[in-house]
Amino acid sequence: MEKRHIAILGATGSIGTQALDVISRHRDIFDVDLLTANNNADLLIRQALEFKPNNVVICNGALYEKVNDALSGEDIKVWAGMESVNALVQSGSVDVVLASMVGFSGLEPTINAIKAGKVIALANKETLVAAGSIVTRLAREYNSPILPVDSEHSAIFQCLQGEHTRIEKLILTASGGPFREWKAEDIAKATREQALKHPNWDMGAKVTIDSASMMNKGLEMIEASWLFQMSPDDIEIVVHPQSIVHSMVQFTDGCLKAQLGAPDMRVPIQYALSYPERLSLDTRRISFSELAHLDFHAPDSNRFPAIELAYSAHRIGGNMACIMNGANEVAVDAFLKDRILFHRIPEIIAKTMEKATFVALPDIDDIYSSHNEAKEIATSLI
Ligand SMILES: NC(=O)c1ccc[n+]([C@@H]2O[C@H](COP(=O)([O-])OP(=O)(O)OC[C@H]3O[C@@H](n4cnc5c(N)ncnc54)[C@H](OP(=O)(O)O)[C@@H]3O)[C@@H](O)[C@H]2O)c1
Repeated sequence: MEKRHIAILGATGSIGTQALDVISRHRDIFDVDLLTANNNADLLIRQALEFKPNNVVICNGALYEKVNDALSGEDIKVWAGMESVNALVQSGSVDVVLASMVGFSGLEPTINAIKAGKVIALANKETLVAAGSIVTRLAREYNSPILPVDSEHSAIFQCLQGEHTRIEKLILTASGGPFREWKAEDIAKATREQALKHPNWDMGAKVTIDSASMMNKGLEMIEASWLFQMSPDDIEIVVHPQSIVHSMVQFTDGCLKAQLGAPDMRVPIQYALSYPERLSLDTRRISFSELAHLDFHAPDSNRFPAIELAYSAHRIGGNMACIMNGANEVAVDAFLKDRILFHRIPEIIAKTMEKATFVALPDIDDIYSSHNEAKEIATSLI
């Protein structure tokens, strides 16, 4: 394999740090060109000293001096602000951009990387939820491959290797999150600490709350629809508490292919970075005794209304999923700050979807204004 030069957007997050773990094990194949962070200057400095990228960006400009001083003795250029991220993802020294910032903030740099024809390893699902039609059209136009990092989408992508026929159905598995067996009235008043305790995955706060409300699966359904060009009617969500089957594809002859393994995000991250090659990795190996008890059941949309909100937003089309995503970001942030109860998250999203301006064929400016409008409406509801 030729050496790959990687830009990691959101290097200090859960995906970013695990990507650096993968890279540290394959230094002969991967080289870090760019690291970005928002507020965690201390970790960014440590990462830069270890991986010696050409550039680092601290998005929060107030922390620029701190990072710059700490790296002054190194051959590393230090920058501040999103404009720097947007420019550096296009740099000639970058081959693969790992889009692992959280939320809508990941959209703009991902679009810039696509416009420079980079390989996109996409963790930031909100990019496709908010602007799937625009992002996938640009990726085709600029010949920029989008490789999934989300474990379910990586599983589907792996199942599709060597297949050229039409897919009948995608089956996205869901752990069910920490409230899988909770009664609706208990979910309604769940605390921040309870919602942050995911049974199978250790992830950033926003995606963990999305998993607890199951909005995460709704966002993933939309992401899968854009990545694999499937109608939402042909994407089924199945609760699978063990998180061993990472997702499945059903073909037109009735055959199902699944990808299995221990839940470990380093697998899909590494696969996206090394694709089409597979590299060694010290993940926990699954034993057949574990496979003797795998459960699958339909999600309960009464207790988890976010799933239906996502299907409905995607079926309506236009900017509706962008509105839903913006409202969700505000509601999750408010829940994390103890400003609303858990059951208000889907309620705020549904009300924002009713009130925000619908645009049937949004361009990128419409997407930015829809996101801002959705945030304003959701904030006013809080
Ligand atoms: N974690 C997982 O296992 C997992 C699995 C599948 C998909 N994903 C997706 O991957 C993305 C990242 O998730 P995560 O769990 O890694 O999130 P996370 O742990 O919260 O990390 C987010 C990263 O983005 C940076 N960031 C946050 N807001 C920013 C902003 N406004 N401008 C610039 N940078 C910003 C953070 O910087 P600072 O820390 O420096 O502030 C951090 O580096 C999300 O879209 C998530 O849905 C995650």
